[in-house]
Amino acid sequence: MTDQQFIHSGAEKKPRVQAMFNRIAGRYDFLNHALSLGIDILWRKKTLKSLRLKDGDRLLDVATGTADMGLLALDIAKVDVLGLDFAYEMLVYGSKKLVKKSATDRIHLVQGDAERIPLQSETMDAITIAYGMRNVGDIDQTLSEFYRTLRPGGRVAVLEFSLPSGRIFGPLFNFYFRKILPFFGGLFSNKTDYTYLPESVRHFPSRGDFMDLMRAEGFIGVECYDLTLGISSIFIATK
Ligand SMILES: C[S@@+](CC[C@H](N)C(=O)[O-])C[C@H]1O[C@@H](n2cnc3c(N)ncnc32)[C@H](O)[C@@H]1O
Repeated sequence: MTDQQFIHSGAEKKPRVQAMFNRIAGRYDFLNHALSLGIDILWRKKTLKSLRLKDGDRLLDVATGTADMGLLALDIAKVDVLGLDFAYEMLVYGSKKLVKKSATDRIHLVQGDAERIPLQSETMDAITIAYGMRNVGDIDQTLSEFYRTLRPGGRVAVLEFSLPSGRIFGPLFNFYFRKILPFFGGLFSNKTDYTYLPESVRHFPSRGDFMDLMRAEGFIGVECYDLTLGISSIFIATK
């Protein structure tokens, strides 16, 4: 499959994304931290801190993958985490980490779709999604499910790659993202998987457009913070 054939929205995208994450699950953590040079851990912590979590809060981590966000959340507060992902193999690796870190009493993993969250309305105090929003088939539907499952006053934090706009750093990063990253990704994995990454970032709405989508769902206090020269952004909002 070439990147041109990869669909970047709609129902056809979902089974392809699901198959891709099932395929790369065993290499995901290594590649993730190596290709971001470990900076992603700082970005994740910052995202979690923006939620101002308190002991006893119920946190839903959507597109949880191998459960990194849930595990880091436990360093901030004694929260109860539900991690949701539709790629079973990612959850298998995640659950091994939970056992290793003795976190099975605080974090539960469930296979499910971000666009049809298997929870009753207004049951969550906070929601996170890290590097998942650009992978879903329907962003509006996913945000609508976030709004439905959050309690009034609950907060959502979306961590996602962005395109840096600086005149020097922008093109440099673009070169790394489009050429170097797929090359190194291809050494350990299927090169298409790492061509999908920059393409999916390119297809993601701009910061301003994404904030408008959040407001259109009813979220208030929508804010966006750029991280590390704009490589990633955090979007925060309240129900
Ligand atoms: C790039 S990984 C991020 C994983 C994790 N949040 C992290 O930060 O490492 C994206 C994850 O989104 C999941 N995903 C994509 N679309 C989804 C959907 N519609 N419902 C549930 N999970 C989804 C994938 O299976 C994958 O595990």
